[in-house]
Amino acid sequence: MITAIRAWFEAFVDAYRQGTPDHDAHLDLKRTHSLRVMDEAKAQAEALDLSGRLRELAVITGLLHDTGRFPQYRRFHTFRDADSANHAILGTIALAREKALADLDQRSRTLVRTAIICHNKRAIPARVASGADADALALVRIVRDADKLDIVRVMLEHFQAPKEKDAVVFLGLPDIPDAYNPVFLEDIEAGRIGNYYAMGSTNDFALLLLSWINDMNFARTRREFFTRGLVAGLFDALPDLPDLLAFKTRYHDRFAPCETVSP
Ligand SMILES: [Fe+2]
Repeated sequence: MITAIRAWFEAFVDAYRQGTPDHDAHLDLKRTHSLRVMDEAKAQAEALDLSGRLRELAVITGLLHDTGRFPQYRRFHTFRDADSANHAILGTIALAREKALADLDQRSRTLVRTAIICHNKRAIPARVASGADADALALVRIVRDADKLDIVRVMLEHFQAPKEKDAVVFLGLPDIPDAYNPVFLEDIEAGRIGNYYAMGSTNDFALLLLSWINDMNFARTRREFFTRGLVAGLFDALPDLPDLLAFKTRYHDRFAPCETVSP
């Protein structure tokens, strides 16, 4: 099953290529992200010891969760949903139009669609979070955590790149050396995730990503967030301001798993 869907995905992505390096590099960024989220979802599903069928659906959902990014970029030249369209919805429309899930049974199709629709919401919608449908909740949790881990990886690569920050990747935010919005610190310390709309600079993007610790569903994800050096990398991307250095210590005191060394 996954082999056919993977082949469909590759053909789908290829159809959006335009042969211009800048354009296609942004498509490749999302293609690679999709493949990595697929692997992350698979690893999490295995760690949870889920049934073979649910594992397969986790893999499919991971691969297809960002299908909407390709039509979004072609139409709007941005990955900013607020300036274009909800890419999760665009994805489910494309999957339906292309009959990409036709080989799945009805129930499986619904589960994949639900997980895609819920992957980019600020919080898991109550009807899913209730757990009335345990399989749907498991898939949504898996894809949301897998997505977060890989988005941070992608963003860190861009934070650490020596060249100027890519406007599409950084959602058009300006790189202002010492600027940051303290509301992100308040959100994190109050157990909330940050708001995309509160971002005024690339530093705020790093703080937003650090806030995701409050919306990770599995202890494994939180552990990986630290042990892969993602948290350290995000703090390294921030300026050495006294308030941020003090915040870094508090962040580690509160969130770092016991087995990782603090800052
Ligand atoms: Fe997404």
